[in-house]
Amino acid sequence: QRHLISAADLTRDDAVLILDTAEEMARVADRPIKKLPTLRGRTIVNLFFEDSTRTRISFEAAEKRLSADVINFSAKGSSVSKGESLKDTAQTLEAMGVDAVVIRHGASGAPYRLATSGWIDAVVVNAGDGTHQHPTQALLDAFTMRRRLVGRDAGIGQDLSGKRITIVGDVLHSRVARSNVDLLHTLGAEVTLVAPPTLVPVGIETWPCEVSYDLDSTLPKSDAVMMLRVQRERMNAAFFPTEREYSRRYGLDGDRMARMPEHAIVMHPGPMVRGMEITAEVADSERCTVVEQVANGVSIRMAVLYLLLGGNEPAVSHARTTEE
Ligand code: CP
Repeated sequence: QRHLISAADLTRDDAVLILDTAEEMARVADRPIKKLPTLRGRTIVNLFFEDSTRTRISFEAAEKRLSADVINFSAKGSSVSKGESLKDTAQTLEAMGVDAVVIRHGASGAPYRLATSGWIDAVVVNAGDGTHQHPTQALLDAFTMRRRLVGRDAGIGQDLSGKRITIVGDVLHSRVARSNVDLLHTLGAEVTLVAPPTLVPVGIETWPCEVSYDLDSTLPKSDAVMMLRVQRERMNAAFFPTEREYSRRYGLDGDRMARMPEHAIVMHPGPMVRGMEITAEVADSERCTVVEQVANGVSIRMAVLYLLLGGNEPAVSHARTTEE
């Protein structure tokens, strides 16, 4: 069985194949009828135990563009609130004959458990688990960087060798940072993390990246700067940084953006907290790719689902898998 659980499981060739396939999928969005028949007759469940706007909507859009039958499940309003376990929820879905489960869960490791437990036969795609991984976010970010920094056509078959990417903010709680560090390293980019000392994870010295506490000196050496939200919902209130102090040291405003090379882009996975990690001036600037990232997310999720579920096409045999 094949799954997508972690960006760390992807080889360079796997990742480039997904990015190239996403370029093909992006062409569907330019057509008058934005649909492919590829997953007709396949059923996909979007199983969301945590809130989401972008990931959930873009998975649904991707599934519908591939003509799959889509079931949306939200823990809120389900029998999970009566105490039903992940196992029983999964087996209920299995009984309905699902082919793939896209899961977001607050517990790190929940998608891996689902994929390896034997509870279900379906393909499992991780849509974000706790502070662990968010592989399709890293893929859509890499897709956006490749388009902007290498070129839409010039990028086909290429990785991100030599590109310098800076990720700024609450690294401690960020599955986006973890996934991006793994994937960007695999794709040949040089990654620098900039974070307050209190928001740096233990063991970061083993990650394949540099760590800095000085944003201003890092900006002029960056091809892309990715800003992260401070995840208050995962913090003890006593450790909340004050907005003023945080934005003064780690926020991106117009003056700081001016220190970046002219070609460099500003990224954010969303949701943004304007005034905290990013000012409205930067968020609304031409250099900010946040809306483009969302559109690219549909193409990436189409590519991942196509490669995992698409049948007998030659590309499918090269799809990234997590072997059990
Ligand atoms: N980037 C991201 O995962 O956003 P959502 O939480 O809105 O899905």
